[in-house]
Amino acid sequence: MSGPDLTEIVGTDHVLTSPDLVAAYVTDWTGRYRGDARAVVRPQTVDQVSSILHACNIAGIDVVPQGGNTGLVGGSVPAPGSGAVVLSLTRLNSMGPIDPATGQVTVGAGVTLSALHAHAHAAGWSFGVDLAARDSATIGGMVATNAGGIHVVGNGMMRKQVLGLEAVLATGEVIRSMSGLAKNNTGYDLTQLLCGSEGTLGVITEVSLQLIRPRDTELILAGCDSVAAALKIASRFAGRLAAAEIMDRSGIESVSRVIGIAVPFPTSFHVLVEVTGGVSADSLEDLEHVTLAMDARDRENYWALRERITEAMAAEGTGVSHKLDISVPLADLDTVYREITAYLDQPGVRDVVLFGHLMDGNFHVFFTTDADGSVEQALDTAVLELVAVHGGSISAEHGVGHMKADHLHLSRSAAEIASMRGIKAALDPEGILNPGVLLPK
Ligand code: FAD
Ligand code: LAC
Ligand code: ZN
Repeated sequence: MSGPDLTEIVGTDHVLTSPDLVAAYVTDWTGRYRGDARAVVRPQTVDQVSSILHACNIAGIDVVPQGGNTGLVGGSVPAPGSGAVVLSLTRLNSMGPIDPATGQVTVGAGVTLSALHAHAHAAGWSFGVDLAARDSATIGGMVATNAGGIHVVGNGMMRKQVLGLEAVLATGEVIRSMSGLAKNNTGYDLTQLLCGSEGTLGVITEVSLQLIRPRDTELILAGCDSVAAALKIASRFAGRLAAAEIMDRSGIESVSRVIGIAVPFPTSFHVLVEVTGGVSADSLEDLEHVTLAMDARDRENYWALRERITEAMAAEGTGVSHKLDISVPLADLDTVYREITAYLDQPGVRDVVLFGHLMDGNFHVFFTTDADGSVEQALDTAVLELVAVHGGSISAEHGVGHMKADHLHLSRSAAEIASMRGIKAALDPEGILNPGVLLPK
């Protein structure tokens, strides 16, 4: 296949073309999205990223940025038949010192979330975002998807931790907002524009982040029989929630089977609530099914029941994995749960699991079908339409990717989509960055 010789930029060891080596980079975490690429290129510096993009832009070659490839919407892999280059950023993995006066740190886009957590903890700080894919998910990918995770209720999403970033535009030009200034009102906020842009506007190479001080927390595991009851349990700790998660029975039973932890309560739902400021005995005494984590082992086990649902379902599941990620106003959450589960109770749909970030109004709606044809895709559409009726979002935290580009109109107006297209055309005039992701073709 003709095109620029990218080995001249990164060396022969870092341009992968053999199908065996490329396979892992063109298949997404769920196995639902498999594409093709002319090569996987693994730069180590921003200058190399710039040269690659410059060359690909001139040659009209599409580029798919990729971090840990843990995304759940197919956005990190090329489409089938694509002649794209996969740009793997995992070698941009430097971590700067933590400023003891401010808790600020600058890290490469390819640093994993686990590595950042370890770096922060070693210096007496903490990073405000956490999620189960921490060992592989990269900071660049998390900024590009504006990742959420288990502490959004306390700390906000990824964009809230981002102070500045360095990114390479499709032309190869580099933009930087790493001045460290507390105040800088000089026009459009390009840093925040890149957050959640899913690799369609630029390639993030470095990020400046705000760390926080670790806080003492208590972890409560409770059982209840409705979403409304779960919301009431978490709401009694409003203002000092560090996490508030919900798991339905089928999800928790899957974890129990796969990792061998007993299901704690006989209830329809388990709720995991992490709070700062202590838990008084009388705040829980009305609950029939409740326990407090007493030590690190309890905490690990309770969190495993929540965090390992995705992994357990992947271990047990066969067929086509549907992973929807919706949010609705809290007032509608109970109703929407009932409507979605009633709708998915139909022939051909198996392994229905709903779980997620309770106080963010965010349910992950996972299920399995035997095929990926139009009938099965219509199931996704029906669930997302139902969410839109309630004023909800078709993507709470995973992003739009390839999976939901054609559903974007359910959450964004025609004027908003036209504005996004204008921004895309301005920053990526040849449309080489992640085509087919986020914006409908
Ligand atoms: P990738 O999957 O490689 O890429 C994701 C998107 O970002 C793609 O569109 C890609 O093109 C783009 N991208 C990647 N790197 C860059 C870069 N440097 N510059 C520009 N664009 C880039 N997500 C949540 O929000 N909350 C959760 O709680 C959560 N839990 C998860 C649990 C499990 C078990 C798994 C498998 C996934 C989970 N995810 C969760 C999804 C996923 O981990 C996040 O979307 C994460 O942010 C992806 O990071 P990544 O480095 O793997 O990015
Ligand atoms: C989680 C992922 C699936 O919350 O977003 O576990
Ligand atoms: Zn989640």
